[in-house]
Amino acid sequence: MVKDRVLSGMQASGKVHLGNLVGALKNWVDLQDRYDCFYFIADWHALTTGYANPAAIKESTKDLLINFIAAGLDPEKSTIFIQSMVPQHAELHLLLSMITPLSWLERVPTYKEKQVELKERDLSTYGFLGYPVLQTSDIIIYRAKRVPVGIDQMPHLEISREIARKFNFQYREVFPEPEGLLTEFPKVPGLDGRKMSKSYDNAIYLSDTPEVVDQKIRTMMTDPARKRKTDVGDPELSPVFHLHKIFSSSEEIEYCTHGCRTAAIGCIECKKILIKNVFTYLEPIWKRRAELIDNPDELYAVAKKGSEKAAVVAEETMKIVREVMGLA
Ligand code: TRP
Repeated sequence: MVKDRVLSGMQASGKVHLGNLVGALKNWVDLQDRYDCFYFIADWHALTTGYANPAAIKESTKDLLINFIAAGLDPEKSTIFIQSMVPQHAELHLLLSMITPLSWLERVPTYKEKQVELKERDLSTYGFLGYPVLQTSDIIIYRAKRVPVGIDQMPHLEISREIARKFNFQYREVFPEPEGLLTEFPKVPGLDGRKMSKSYDNAIYLSDTPEVVDQKIRTMMTDPARKRKTDVGDPELSPVFHLHKIFSSSEEIEYCTHGCRTAAIGCIECKKILIKNVFTYLEPIWKRRAELIDNPDELYAVAKKGSEKAAVVAEETMKIVREVMGLA
């Protein structure tokens, strides 16, 4: 039986944190046996907002690749690659830009939101507006059917479907319309209780040492009403508790809930249990990371082999595209 193709990517604009791991990477790992998976690092997408600092993108690309593999993506099962190492994406992006109406791009919610969020950067560029066109080319160049992404990426995926549809109508039926693969994954709260994000400075990074993780959790906020150990608290008001729900056993959660409500345990004891569980979760990843960091040749070999594999598929599609657009 031929497996359906899955594709997903992560933009190289920062270090991988626990939210990316629990919310995306672990899901990608689970899909590896059931689908023909393509996973990549979107370094060109990072340039749309980070063009002024390419060195940071290079560093992020390396961090992402290390963590993809450390988290369990297996180059023997999945095609793991770097966007800029498969230049066919850029060619398709250019051709798709010919048929993509400006109005579709201007109405994408993230277009305006990001400009506000990053108002210190000049994002009134052609490349930034075309972000979803590049993303479409990433997906449809592999004629992928399924795209595991978070709910926030759905508007992008909707545009990809529209562009694919328009191409098929204009020229010939070449591309399947990609569909999302929404899996309910726990949203990982950051150290301050808001969504974990590098822009909020509230993240635990996979590159953090155990000492740093320990320190970050120890100094986390808890229910502000619990000033003293003898004050009772409401676990729901503590971001520590929301992390427990992801990393701790039901007995431990019960123990901490009861302990908090009755002031039987202090916040430090509760945090120590969480620290132990986060360590258990991260230890295999830390171990694999250390091996990979010491072995940049292995890392480069994975990226090169994966990108070559991806380019073969991408080139097959481009042959058809050039033909139907009268460019062959
Ligand atoms: N936009 C995605 C992110 O923010 C990255 C991405 C680029 C992507 N191309 C993609 C995701 C194609 C899924 C499919 O990380």
